[in-house]
Amino acid sequence: MRNVAAVILAAGEGTRMRSSLPKALHPICGKPMIKYLVDNIRSIGIKNIIVIVGHRSNLVKKELDGVECIKQDKLLGTGDAVAKAKTALLKDKKIDSVLISCGDVPLLKPETLKKIIGRHVSTRSACTLLVSTLKNPTGYGRIMRSSNDRIAKIIEELDASIYEKVVEEINVGVYCFNKDLLFEALGKIKPNNKKKEYYLTDTIDVLARSNAIVDSVSTDDTEEFLGVNTRKDLIEAEMVVRRRILDRLMRRGVSVIDPNNTYIEEGVEIKKDTIIYPYTFIDSNVKIGSECSIGPFARLRSGTVVDDGAGIGNFVEIVRSRIGKNTKVRHQCYIGDTVIGKGVNIGAGTIVANYDGKRKNKTVIEDNAFIGTGTILIAPVRIGKGAITGSGSVVTRNHNVPAGKTVVGVPARILRKK
Ligand code: UD1
Ligand code: CA
Repeated sequence: MRNVAAVILAAGEGTRMRSSLPKALHPICGKPMIKYLVDNIRSIGIKNIIVIVGHRSNLVKKELDGVECIKQDKLLGTGDAVAKAKTALLKDKKIDSVLISCGDVPLLKPETLKKIIGRHVSTRSACTLLVSTLKNPTGYGRIMRSSNDRIAKIIEELDASIYEKVVEEINVGVYCFNKDLLFEALGKIKPNNKKKEYYLTDTIDVLARSNAIVDSVSTDDTEEFLGVNTRKDLIEAEMVVRRRILDRLMRRGVSVIDPNNTYIEEGVEIKKDTIIYPYTFIDSNVKIGSECSIGPFARLRSGTVVDDGAGIGNFVEIVRSRIGKNTKVRHQCYIGDTVIGKGVNIGAGTIVANYDGKRKNKTVIEDNAFIGTGTILIAPVRIGKGAITGSGSVVTRNHNVPAGKTVVGVPARILRKK
């Protein structure tokens, strides 16, 4: 794919989201919408990716570290947006084809992108479109074919006559263009339509008239091209992605007892023979080993690592922490900024007070320690190997418990054996 570049159109305001966050950055299962497309394009081997940004472009740029972002100051239409990438793309002589997609179709699969490009290359067309047939095509550009079934042009909803509106074949909004022909055609389009915009889709008419081949790949997977325009669309996309994540985990040997009530974000690693019980929430950037038991009602937040054989039970919240091999944190606990060793037992209701109002402080609990029920550990503090805290003890900051010792009380003191 070294001769293919990609352009993602994401300058639109996304007014219908009613949000101060740019649409492209709304998260779906913990990952900004635009990143799904960027990652999928990268996954098929395309390195040269340009994102056209507009509304609050700095925020988008920051999130897309390493991707070229070009600003479109005035939203003059999708044709104008693509034209913004002209200088960058013409400069790169290796590139002969350009994949173009709207930024708000996060569910597009890499296989589909590959198919469009593959078809485009094998038929040597000027443009290959992704099309579909919908019983209700409202809102989409309609594909107009000539008598010999060739694609002749695309008519946008607003500009369509009642005869054109009944056409059920639609433009999904994903294209592969021959680079030179694309920019030549873009130079010829005019904003003579209801919206007074430069439509990228008008290049199809220009190309077809010049007898260039306009080809298509068809998809009947409507879920795949769900366009996210409203909060409702966003949640629909979230449900699809959530299910895809769980399916992927199950294929890899993880048991998810109740997929309808399990919330695992993108960027979570779980090894085989681990069981996830219902109402568990696992954020991005969490790693879980094999043969663990998680939930029900557990919440694992970013930066958490759970080693093999560990057990995390109900109403346990863990953040930025490591839970060692075979360690158990079974009931009603909060663990933050803590490194816990192997074979530790954390009693019911244990709380790590990691935040002192200014700073988040670290706690260490070494191998085989036994933390009694209702213990409060005020960070920073260290519990030595095999040490024990009595029920209800409050271990105050910097009052480390030496290995093998038992502490009890408030504040916790070392218990001297008589
Ligand atoms: C577009 C297509 C339509 C297709 C539909 C699929 C055109 C003219 N029409 O319509 O045929 O069926 O997508 O969803 O292309 N954008 C910019 N700069 C602009 C305008 C838009 O970057 O000046 C971006 C938007 O952020 C958005 C995308 O381009 O991601 C599509 O723009 P939008 O105006 O929503 O086009 P549609 O009306 O959906
Ligand atoms: Ca749209």
